[in-house]
Amino acid sequence: MTEPDFRTPELDTLAARVIPGRHFEFSAATARDRFFKDTGMLDIKQWVHNAFRTNPRSMVDHMIANLQLTGTEDLLDLGCGNGFILQHLRPHLADGSITGLDIAPAVLDAARQRLHGTATPCTWIEASADDLSMLADNAFDRVMANYMIHYVPDLDRCFTEVRRVMRAEGLFHLTTDRPDSMLEMYDVHFSALKEMGAPDDLFKATPKGRLSLDNGADILSRYFDQVERRTWQDQLRFTDPEPFMQFYEIGHNHCCASSEPDERLGESFFSELRERVRAQVAAAITDKGYFAVTKFTGTFLCR
Ligand SMILES: C[S@@+](CC[C@H](N)C(=O)[O-])C[C@H]1O[C@@H](n2cnc3c(N)ncnc32)[C@H](O)[C@@H]1O
Repeated sequence: MTEPDFRTPELDTLAARVIPGRHFEFSAATARDRFFKDTGMLDIKQWVHNAFRTNPRSMVDHMIANLQLTGTEDLLDLGCGNGFILQHLRPHLADGSITGLDIAPAVLDAARQRLHGTATPCTWIEASADDLSMLADNAFDRVMANYMIHYVPDLDRCFTEVRRVMRAEGLFHLTTDRPDSMLEMYDVHFSALKEMGAPDDLFKATPKGRLSLDNGADILSRYFDQVERRTWQDQLRFTDPEPFMQFYEIGHNHCCASSEPDERLGESFFSELRERVRAQVAAAITDKGYFAVTKFTGTFLCR
């Protein structure tokens, strides 16, 4: 099947104008104690990414193709979240095993419950992905780190550890975004911030800029002999502003402005921000029939 290509010269021009060079950075503690203290953020993202996509192949379909599972592999998932991806991979590991590791106890518990009672043996570990000292050398055929590496404090230690726990013929599967993924969301967000005269330090791009599809191959090739990049696109289309607003507010912490307590930004700031964003989304729906959010995402396959 041919992959859809949503890139247009207009989107490239928009990306160059809208996406800042600087990006947000968050500690593992912020991830554990705020973003993933429950499954709310993940639930909204997983719902929206699937319910509003236009690429007939889902993210999980791409992962299954990339992982080349025969059914007997031992798989380690770093930052496994609520087990959404593992639930879909599990039938492809009928005679293998799953180890899910995450720093946040609530989402790890949700993953445990999601896979409870299935025949594939599962082990759940609460830890940071840069300390795999509880795992033996050469224990896994597949190691995954999907949409989580930007939270890991010590990337050097993490990749060295992945190398150690992965078997010689194994595969490390790291999924992340291009910095300009979902640029229409950033466009309406930054336009609203500008209209409000918001503080300069809020004009930053996604934290995935730390290790993105643009710079990831350089970083990973210091640890792995072969690094192959496989990209794919999708376009979320909304004909009602409400699901997008949940995606924007909760799924992306108002594109990070509401990620940490900030005494400069009270509830009136965020209600005005939401109203200004909602108005732009509603106008696009009236104008074009839908509001589009274009995703540029992909995976590094490392051996
Ligand atoms: C955006 S979610 C991705 C979840 C899952 N991999 C997916 O793609 O659906 C990021 C996950 O990384 C976890 N995380 C954040 N920092 C981590 C760290 N240092 N070590 C392990 N997991 C971490 C979070 O708790 C969260 O579950």
